[in-house]
Amino acid sequence: MYILGIETSCDDTSAAVLHDNRVLSNVIAGQEVHRLYGGVVPELASRAHQQHIVPVVDAALKQAKVTKNQLSLIAYTRGPGLLGSLLVGSAFAKALSLGLDVPLVDVDHMEAHIFAHFLVDELQNKQPGLPFLCLTVSGGHTQIVRVEKDHSMHIVGRTIDDAAGEAFDKAAKIMGLPYPGGPEIDRLAQEGNPGAFQFAEPRIPGYDYSFSGLKTSILYFLRDQLKADESFIEKNKADLCASIQRTIVDILMKKLIMAVRDTGIRQVALAGGVSANSALRKALFEAGEKEDWDVFVPRIAYTTDNAAMIAVAGYMKYLAGYRSSLELAPYTRQQAT
Ligand code: KG4
Ligand code: ZN
Repeated sequence: MYILGIETSCDDTSAAVLHDNRVLSNVIAGQEVHRLYGGVVPELASRAHQQHIVPVVDAALKQAKVTKNQLSLIAYTRGPGLLGSLLVGSAFAKALSLGLDVPLVDVDHMEAHIFAHFLVDELQNKQPGLPFLCLTVSGGHTQIVRVEKDHSMHIVGRTIDDAAGEAFDKAAKIMGLPYPGGPEIDRLAQEGNPGAFQFAEPRIPGYDYSFSGLKTSILYFLRDQLKADESFIEKNKADLCASIQRTIVDILMKKLIMAVRDTGIRQVALAGGVSANSALRKALFEAGEKEDWDVFVPRIAYTTDNAAMIAVAGYMKYLAGYRSSLELAPYTRQQAT
């Protein structure tokens, strides 16, 4: 089957073509316009999706050497995300499905980040067995998900406030780094000492997370230091980034280790934009060695928002017998699981 995936939940317009679960193309058009504002501006995002959607889908088909008449399934992101952005992708997907008379499958964006593990290409072919635990960490969500034998997903723990990606982005903003801050902190941290500074870690029961206290801790710490030396951030940038990154990774890993020990599920995966983080990947591999887990990280190209993950999620739902009606409306917040 040739599957077209469409992703427009936030600020990346993406289209991908798969042959079953094998990636033939995965085109992503980012939106530079938001950099000026230090964050995603919803109205500008939906306008940019409108401009990008046709050329991006066209490029994905051309790169895959597949014509639209060869498509046998269209998968799109229904939610969660920004309403205006979701509407562009969902309207386009519905119109194309109707015009070509091919089935349509709607996909949940957060589930798709996890389904990215089932994509196959020349560099990614190791798939987790079922059941597995997945730490899904993105700009909007942070959760430990249990993926069952039938691919159904249950949230074991989640953030009660900010997501891990937000913690990276907000810390970067406080330091005056460009948006999105996560990759920037990762890059600058390479040269820094992760033990240079200590920040408050949350004390939250169970498998849930909290990151808002960390943001406040960084804010107050820097405010005090800047009073004494106004070039404190400039002088300590690498150490600050390395220390913030270590704190976020420690917080993420502690609960994950607890969840694996308690559930006895030793197949452990990462997913979502923050799973591109080099320190988090390293920490997962180290925990895997120490705790005797099988660990899985998606290729970097499938960690941040992309349509290949939407297409594979749609493909697997389709194989399980699922079809979407044209009446479905997008949702902006995560559906309860
Ligand atoms: O999954 P994603 O692309 O979009 C959402 O669904 O939210 O995740 C975006 C988030 C942003 O917060 C970004 O700063 C973060 O992923 N991110 C990273 C890295 N690459 C992306 N955070 C830390 N280190 C990275 N290398
Ligand atoms: Zn995402």
